Amino acid sequence: MGEGATRLIEAPRLATRLGMRQLILKNETSNPTGSFKDRQISVGISHARELGHDTVAVVSSGNVACAAAAYAARCGLKAVLFMHGMAGGGKIAQAASYGAKVVRVDSPSARRVFDLCIEACEAFGWYHLSTSGMHEPYNVEGAKTIAYELYQQTRGDLPDWIVAPVGGGGLLGGIWRGFLDLKRLGLVDTLPRLAGAQAAGCAPLKDAIASGIPFLETLQHPWPNPYSVAGGIADDILFDGHTALPAIRTTQGAAFAVTDEEILNAEVELASAEGILCEPSSAAAIAALKHLQLEPGHNRVCCIVTGTGIKDLDVLRGRVCEPVRIAPSLTDLANAIGETP
Ligand SMILES: Cc1ncc(COP(=O)(O)O)c(C=O)c1O
Repeated sequence: MGEGATRLIEAPRLATRLGMRQLILKNETSNPTGSFKDRQISVGISHARELGHDTVAVVSSGNVACAAAAYAARCGLKAVLFMHGMAGGGKIAQAASYGAKVVRVDSPSARRVFDLCIEACEAFGWYHLSTSGMHEPYNVEGAKTIAYELYQQTRGDLPDWIVAPVGGGGLLGGIWRGFLDLKRLGLVDTLPRLAGAQAAGCAPLKDAIASGIPFLETLQHPWPNPYSVAGGIADDILFDGHTALPAIRTTQGAAFAVTDEEILNAEVELASAEGILCEPSSAAAIAALKHLQLEPGHNRVCCIVTGTGIKDLDVLRGRVCEPVRIAPSLTDLANAIGETP
């Protein structure tokens, strides 16, 4: 396995609770800037350099901005980050710390922010590095590497289902395309079933799957007033619907929408059961596991844990217990934690 591969880890306690034979987690929280977006940006930025650009620009709710700013700093390029309404303070601070120029665009619609970013790239000669295959096809290749690594790490014995959170759809579509590469090479016969998890407050993929509408039609109907605690996946448009929709349709997969309450519960459940703190967008996929209809004999599941929760700790306020204040005494300690020495 290559040096940069993320770990594939067993989640036995969560699997038992969910009645699954096996649950494995592709732990993307350990990427250099804390999310799977490093995969896509590292490919895209190499292309920007190849073309001789000195500045890259991205639209982001947080993780793409962090990755773009960090990789730009690594290779001596400048980065301009267009943060849209859902971007959290922790991610903005992380991205800014890599020396990028950060602007926050007041618009709930990702499309409007994309339009501005594209206009600016044309006006200033910047490279548009956003992780939407429609705008920057190179970084899709980075998302495919999740499929390649899964193949290597399971020695070809792929799980029955793969569940991933969906915003624009590039992650799910990229994984699908990675498996298609493996199939074309004759390495796999059948693909795992692919499931996408969205937030109930912004679920265009779930709607498109339920109603069977084609990709181009989804572009005409952006999700009105997207809102979720999972800001990383609250995209009003399926920018990568041309790959995310067939990923689900051709693998007999599924699309789910989960509430913010389910998302935050899943975040804490994963952390306490398996020791991995993910962000709310990633927790949407963990929450969706409860909705997966598993058939007997097909209950090996892999969930893509896309980003670390350390960037977004504010969302846990009031959900996890506050420390009990005690005097430095064993009796006080025993009372506080409900144990007898
Ligand atoms: C943590 C996290 N998970 C999942 C996604 C969804 O990825 P995509 O937009 O490719 O569907 C994002 C997108 O920003 C994200 O930040």
